[in-house]
Amino acid sequence: MDPHETLTLKPGMPLRGITRVPGDKSISHRSILLGALGDGATQVRGWLAAGDTEATLAAVQQLGIQIDRHDTHTLTVHGGQLRPADAPLDFVNAGTGIRLAAGIMAGQKFDSVLDGSYQLRRRPMKRITEPLQDMGADISSEEGKCPLSVRPAQLKGIEHNLKIASAQVKSAILLAGLFADGDTVVVQPGPARDHTERMLASMGAQVTVDGNTVTLTPGATLQPMDLTVPGDFSSAAFLMVAGLLVPDSDLTIQGVNLNDTRTGLVDALLAMGADIDVVETGLEAGEPVGDIRVRYCELHGTTIGGDLVVRMIDEFPILMVAALSASGETIVRDAKELRVKETDRIAVMATELRKLGANIEEREDGFRIVGPQTLMGSVVDGHDDHRIAMSMAVAGLVADEMTVVTDAKCANDSFPGFAETLMELGGGLLPEGQG
Ligand code: S3P
Repeated sequence: MDPHETLTLKPGMPLRGITRVPGDKSISHRSILLGALGDGATQVRGWLAAGDTEATLAAVQQLGIQIDRHDTHTLTVHGGQLRPADAPLDFVNAGTGIRLAAGIMAGQKFDSVLDGSYQLRRRPMKRITEPLQDMGADISSEEGKCPLSVRPAQLKGIEHNLKIASAQVKSAILLAGLFADGDTVVVQPGPARDHTERMLASMGAQVTVDGNTVTLTPGATLQPMDLTVPGDFSSAAFLMVAGLLVPDSDLTIQGVNLNDTRTGLVDALLAMGADIDVVETGLEAGEPVGDIRVRYCELHGTTIGGDLVVRMIDEFPILMVAALSASGETIVRDAKELRVKETDRIAVMATELRKLGANIEEREDGFRIVGPQTLMGSVVDGHDDHRIAMSMAVAGLVADEMTVVTDAKCANDSFPGFAETLMELGGGLLPEGQG
């Protein structure tokens, strides 16, 4: 299945039926990185084979870890001793990959260089290099950006108060803590996603969580895992909003990760009056999993800030699209982090949505949108940012004429098969080359 260069959207076609989404990106990255540290063979099913996670997989292979691909989504990670790579590790666009790996590499007995694409080279790395240096790591950056150069050093546990509620920073520190002398304590200002803590605990690491404080005591031998990766809530989010906004839609997404640190969008949409049913069906990989059903309905505006922002940090591009269809005012604050994601997601979404005629008030830490607004069809750009490309595609489904999203290949970074899923559900996506 080749990723689509462009997406051509035809508005007004309802999305109906039952579907699934690919495996969770955060958990897929971690299954490779933590699996590599396990004492033996970690079995992974439902692994997300996407741009970002393939980059992490290749980097871990460069470190001498054998990974058997049984099929696209099923693999065995033969955990054990990491060995020096003979070239810089290339994480391409994967912020999660490079930041978590930096924590691991800080504790190794050999040098490494961690790098990525032009886009990753723009993203802030001091947030990890500074706490790692406090732990004694010998890590340097290019003016706070990657490439990162890491040399061997003996680490010590620290107590660190996170300035931002970032799971990537929390995870980098905890992973370095595995190689440190003494306990590592991370105090987070809000509930950032907790997949690392869950996975480490499942491997037998001594991790305790007390409110927003996570403590890791090193020393335990990490046991290999046997896990099935649940569907990615952040991918389901695009389908959910599409179903809510296109008249006559009624769709169910099965097998989605419902970890509370990830599902803030459900709370935000319910506050907007959305017709959503969430049914938990079980546990996969230590995470609650279930089905999400959405039906078209009229939405109204809401205000989002504080802890809810952290629990839906990747969902603001698509929330913007929902807010344009909602009646009244939607205000988002405390979301400055959006400016340092794959792109500045506040500025880039505002720019692209304005091409469809939208009126958006950008704010330093969020935005204000007054709806409902009628969008017109146009040509918009995905900016090499998967969540922008897919959000603009959903905007195209509710515009009043055809919309073309260029530079849409990046959807493959987290949701391979996005276009095919929309088509299967009957959504208005024209096959490539038509339109
Ligand atoms: C992620 C954490 C979040 C999120 C990213 C994935 C993770 O980033 O935006 O898509 O897997 O830990 P921050 O930790 O920087 O908020």
